Amino acid sequence: MTAIGIESLSFATSRYFLDLDLLAQARGVETSKFSQGIGQRLMAVAPPDEDIVSLAASSAKKAIENCDDPQNIAMVLMATESGVDQSKACGIWVHHLLNLPSQCRVVELKQACYSGCAALQLALSYLSRHQNKKVLLIASDIARYGLHTAGEPTQGCAAASMILSCQPRLVAIEPEYGAYTSHVMDFWRPNYRDEAIVDGKYSTKVYLEALAESWKAYQAASGRSFTDHARFCYHIPFTRMAQKAHERLAKICGIQAISTEQIADSLLYSQQLGNSYTASLFVGLASLLENSTCDLTGQRIGFFSYGSGCVAEFFSGVVLPGYQQFLHTTHHQQLLKSRQPLSVDQYEEFYKFRLPQDGSRYMVERYRTGDFRLAGIDGHERLYESVI
Ligand code: CAA
Repeated sequence: MTAIGIESLSFATSRYFLDLDLLAQARGVETSKFSQGIGQRLMAVAPPDEDIVSLAASSAKKAIENCDDPQNIAMVLMATESGVDQSKACGIWVHHLLNLPSQCRVVELKQACYSGCAALQLALSYLSRHQNKKVLLIASDIARYGLHTAGEPTQGCAAASMILSCQPRLVAIEPEYGAYTSHVMDFWRPNYRDEAIVDGKYSTKVYLEALAESWKAYQAASGRSFTDHARFCYHIPFTRMAQKAHERLAKICGIQAISTEQIADSLLYSQQLGNSYTASLFVGLASLLENSTCDLTGQRIGFFSYGSGCVAEFFSGVVLPGYQQFLHTTHHQQLLKSRQPLSVDQYEEFYKFRLPQDGSRYMVERYRTGDFRLAGIDGHERLYESVI
């Protein structure tokens, strides 16, 4: 059977971050609550001229660098739950900024943090029938909760982009999967709100229930057990959640002792950028592949995607020989290292920024961004530009 999977993978995040020790001090919370209880150290904060489109375009540009024949990109699937338009697919701006082929389908997908996984599975089905084509999958989100709320330290932002094809170089995705859907109100964002409404503790409970159910379905479909997987990548709303998920899965499977190496490398980037909703699973994969000190060739990774509301899925992939030479490790590590720290006041200023809601012309001050930025708005139209 033809291998189908990930040919290249890159992510982008804000050039600014808030140290959660500062946030803890400002909110009168012990710093160990955020660093240990939540498992987060730094939180990426988007400046006014960075949004899901600019992040998406920056990450996609890098992912395409490793792609031999970008003219074969026949589909752009953009997963997000921070959409900036009710009608136009955000991916069309990315398609335009990157000058992608006009013979291309572009569509936006939504189901909370899960839609990146849905896009992946839809792309794989498409590629099985169109083996010379490629799909650009982008998952891009800015996670926002209210100031002074329990969710505040679990904000963040990133976009992850992947070229999917029948010539995968990083990971071949296996066909077996276990999906699970249940109508729950653990986290949602009505159209008239900028911040999510979340029943935090309940959401963590539902996440773990959805893990159990989707694992059960995956196991029935694949016949595989816990020990058939060398590494695990979970949806990472905050890293402690992924650790709890791993402990829960081991318990369900009757595994007495789990080793930290099964998930530790996948959490390193998210610890430094926070929740990125749809992107977090793929940021976790980049983190695993780029930080692992051992050769993962031939190793099976178990993936768990969770989107509140809720839809979840467990699936797997196998790491391909020579994957190391197609990673963007230096670029990603440099990106994380070169970010500018914010004070709590500066973070709140970025947080409170809003474009005019009447669509009147407003050009946004220039901050540090990736290769693209939101230049402003004019006549209700968002204006993007390249900054290089
Ligand atoms: N030192 C170390 N640990 C400490 C501590 C201290 N001084 N003080 C408290 N803690 C620990 C607590 O014991 C607790 O640990 P356990 O969970 O292991 O019991 C942990 O820190 C969190 O503290 P609280 O129980 O007091 O919880 P909280 O009120 O701070 O809320 C939260 C935590 C519910 C995760 C909140 O941050 C939140 O609502 N986040 C947004 C929702 C979310 O991320 N949900 C995840 C599942 S839904 C999903 O995955 C989709 C998505 O992306 C949103």
